[in-house]
Amino acid sequence: MAEKILIIGACGQIGTELTLKLREIHGNDQVVASDIREGVDELMQSGPFEILNATDEVHIRQIIETYNIKVVYLMAAMLSATAEKAPKKAWDLNMNSLFHILDMAKEGLIDKIFWPSSIAVFGPTTPKDNTPQITAMEPTTVYGISKQTGERWCEYYNKKFGVDVRSIRYPGIISYKTLPGGGTTDYAIEIFHEALKQNAYTSFLDKDAALPMMYMDDAIKATVEIMQAPAEAIKVRSSYNLAAISFTPEILAANISKHLPDFKISYDPDFRQAIAASWPSSIDDSSARQDWGWDHEFDLDKMTETMLKGVGQTTEQTH
Ligand SMILES: NC(=O)c1ccc[n+]([C@@H]2O[C@H](COP(=O)([O-])OP(=O)(O)OC[C@H]3O[C@@H](n4cnc5c(N)ncnc54)[C@H](O)[C@@H]3O)[C@@H](O)[C@H]2O)c1
Repeated sequence: MAEKILIIGACGQIGTELTLKLREIHGNDQVVASDIREGVDELMQSGPFEILNATDEVHIRQIIETYNIKVVYLMAAMLSATAEKAPKKAWDLNMNSLFHILDMAKEGLIDKIFWPSSIAVFGPTTPKDNTPQITAMEPTTVYGISKQTGERWCEYYNKKFGVDVRSIRYPGIISYKTLPGGGTTDYAIEIFHEALKQNAYTSFLDKDAALPMMYMDDAIKATVEIMQAPAEAIKVRSSYNLAAISFTPEILAANISKHLPDFKISYDPDFRQAIAASWPSSIDDSSARQDWGWDHEFDLDKMTETMLKGVGQTTEQTH
């Protein structure tokens, strides 16, 4: 019988699309979605849903036992820009939720965990271009510190207790179905909404702030594939570098202008520019490509076309 899955933080930008994809693969009833709030209709109506706080260990255990859950995707977290405004709260959520799940796997209650890390684990001393899998990591944001620490604990639980935990360092994820949750790369989503609304956008990052990015479908594909791979293929038990495309606000704006010739971009960088400046511009993900066959499908042109079409349709539906 297929293993039952729990997604914690299922109503977020990535969790929503991940839940829908996993329900398509495994069957709606096999995938229990949970979050501290309700999500979009498609998610709420397509399968079981529970209100669950990721820091409430007792309640997580209850749900895992009730549904006989064997696999957990822990997507709840406070993201980079939001975490800078509430550092202690971010640390509490990002770390304690992970410990609860790691401990449940250590006890044998669950068999497999997916926990996402981020390019935020890197910092100003990391080589910026083609950042290697193993390199200097001195993150300067509370979010980055929590993700780096989480990676160390994942590897520790794997090596010491045999916990099957798998992780990816997501770059900035671009999508239109659910709004982003307060990250530094959110500009690359807002820009499409504003371009279609008023043919203009003011970027909160500098025009030459190059960052690694990925279209949502690729992020979901990577997540599904790393979890489907045989355990022995997953050699990195901290977190895998993962890359697809890398661009600056200026390059993205120029690409949007190919479809909307009157589109205008201006720049008014805020505190998020300092966060972006501490992160890599591009990522070497050869370990993921070698170990479990990762390959991306969306380049900048395909992502831009898909976003303009998708955001356009969503805007039409809500007006
Ligand atoms: N989106 C990106 O670009 C990106 C990049 C790198 C890493 N990640 C990581 O991927 C994961 C998912 O990110 P996302 O973009 O979907 O984030 P998001 O902010 O859109 O979603 C997070 C979800 O967690 C929920 N949540 C918050 N506090 C909770 C709590 N105490 N208990 C239960 N649920 C809670 C929120 O309601 C939200 O639905 C996070 O771990 C994030 O750090 C995301």
